Amino acid sequence: MQKLLIYPVVLILANPMMLPGQEQPVKPVTAVNVHVLGPQKLGNLSPVVVPPGNPQSSSKILLGKQLYFDTRLSLDNTISCATCHDPAMGWSDAGPTSTGISGQKGGRRSPPVSNAAYSQLQFWDGRAATLEDQAKGPIANPIEMGSTHDVMIRTVEDIPGYVEEFKKVFGTSTITIDMVADAIAAFERTVVTTDSPFDRYVRGDEEALTRMEKKGLEIFNGKGHCTLCHWGPYFSDGRFHNLGVAPTDPASPDEGRFVVTNDPADKGAFKTPTIRDVALRAPYMHNGSEKDLDAGIDLYNKGGRVKDANLDPLILPLSLTKKEKEALVSFMKRAMTSTNPEVSGVKPPSVSDLPK
Ligand code: HEC
Ligand code: HEC
Repeated sequence: MQKLLIYPVVLILANPMMLPGQEQPVKPVTAVNVHVLGPQKLGNLSPVVVPPGNPQSSSKILLGKQLYFDTRLSLDNTISCATCHDPAMGWSDAGPTSTGISGQKGGRRSPPVSNAAYSQLQFWDGRAATLEDQAKGPIANPIEMGSTHDVMIRTVEDIPGYVEEFKKVFGTSTITIDMVADAIAAFERTVVTTDSPFDRYVRGDEEALTRMEKKGLEIFNGKGHCTLCHWGPYFSDGRFHNLGVAPTDPASPDEGRFVVTNDPADKGAFKTPTIRDVALRAPYMHNGSEKDLDAGIDLYNKGGRVKDANLDPLILPLSLTKKEKEALVSFMKRAMTSTNPEVSGVKPPSVSDLPK
């Protein structure tokens, strides 16, 4: 109840022109006037904030990259981070949910590693605070890489090339899981999007977006209310919402953020994902239940796919026309897709390039 009272106030504060139930007046967008509903403007990402405990260095980033792509970190040498977070698939996988060691299926979709450095919390339910914390999870997850930290460390210590590199980066030949996680996180902090047509548009290139994409951006900011949650340069509020996504198993739905907080208001709520490079990683949502962007927009237009007692009050039917939906999709497709070589052009190191 409290939530229901607060949200209309937030809506009004976010845009004084709008009253609940009224249609959002759409201002024309220009490169310098990227009009917003959320507390932070959409825009270019600032440089990644590097935590003081894990400074970047080129040798650490290279080591992290090798570990990221090395299947030897899994119990049976078949799975690396890149199996489920593949640069060629928008740093995600084919979905709808991920497949780990021995063909085991998880219940959730692989979120992108690209730009994850900007996420305040990691995982769909935000259960890891940092990239370093997050990186320790999959190695020892029985349905992901299926190993243990001890087994993985012994494997790495048996590869002289790695021992040498760890010594160079960390000054010791005693390898620990924290060092592995630090190196992988350092690499992940380089996988950043700064050069989508949207970014060029914000930097002042009016020609970077087509008319239709500009219309889509206008709807994203206006009638679609998308920026109420997908705001700021990272296109995410870092918060958790229940969108009425169709559960994979209605008999035992994924409880999302509730598992972390135990707050009933968080049941079925998941972290707002970024919209950057979104076209590269269909299907969508925490369980991959929406097969493409058209389907995703259809969910919003209907005010949720399923009726859920916990539906976020910001999710309301939108009455978007066919043209408006097309414009939104065109904005999210080409305009939000980056061409940064660090993101889209990363060539996985071949096995022969990995330490021996
Ligand atoms: C078997 C597939 C699989 C493997 C292997 C895997 N991941 Fe993931 N990853 C996932 C899935 C699925 C999630 C979401 C899980 C959740 O939210 O509960 C995830 C979440 C993440 C996130 C959080 C992103 C965000 O926005 O919340 C990061 C970062 C990440 N993985 C990095 C890695 C790294 C680094 C490795 C290797 C050490 C790795 N992953 C190995 C499937 C995988
Ligand atoms: C109330 C907050 C909120 C609003 C408003 C909102 N989103 Fe979302 N969006 C989310 C959350 C949370 C998810 C993930 C939900 C899940 O997986 O259960 C999401 C997921 C998505 C995805 C899937 C991305 C992926 O990587 O799987 C797309 C695309 C998307 N939103 C686009 C939009 C568009 C377009 C609008 C406006 C029409 C919009 N969103 C409005 C919070 C919101």
